[in-house]
Amino acid sequence: MQEPRPNSPGSDAGIDEDLIATLVDRFYAAVRQDALIGPVFEARVDDWDEHLTKLAAFWSSVVLKSGRYRGSPMPVHVAIDEISSAHFARWLQLFAETARAVCPPDAAALFIDRSQRIGESLQLGISLNRGDGIAFERPRRTP
Ligand code: HEM
Repeated sequence: MQEPRPNSPGSDAGIDEDLIATLVDRFYAAVRQDALIGPVFEARVDDWDEHLTKLAAFWSSVVLKSGRYRGSPMPVHVAIDEISSAHFARWLQLFAETARAVCPPDAAALFIDRSQRIGESLQLGISLNRGDGIAFERPRRTP
């Protein structure tokens, strides 16, 4: 495992691997109970321990620049036929609620900002892949 960079945005905001693990665990516990997006995950994720480990590595790479995640989220989401902007809105809402509940304010703000940027990028990629890229509207960011 590579060490987080000392001057990453996350380390400056007080984020460490333990906080990421707590956020990821709490977030997917909420996701699994959600009537809209829970079923999308339950239909595809067989091994939740593996999923949580992968997503903790993803967030570590995003905010701590640790390089722990080496996957490609875009094709994974493009392959989810039923995914819509409503799913993204709920995902982002639940993620922001969990980040605010679990993290100090600066850390929550960083996670929320990055989730919204990545969510926009994934939605744009899905939209272009479906051939309706021109219809993509930039979602509003929550402060
Ligand atoms: C908006 C921000 C989102 C981020 C940052 C995000 C991030 C990720 C990442 C990093 C993975 C792992 C990809 C890999 O296998 O390497 C993943 C998997 C997955 N995501 Fe997302 N995701 C987002 C939104 C959503 C939404 C809205 C849904 C559907 C409601 C969704 C459903 C899934 C599912 C089902 C998987 C697992 C797929 C599988 O293992 O077959 N994601 N996500």
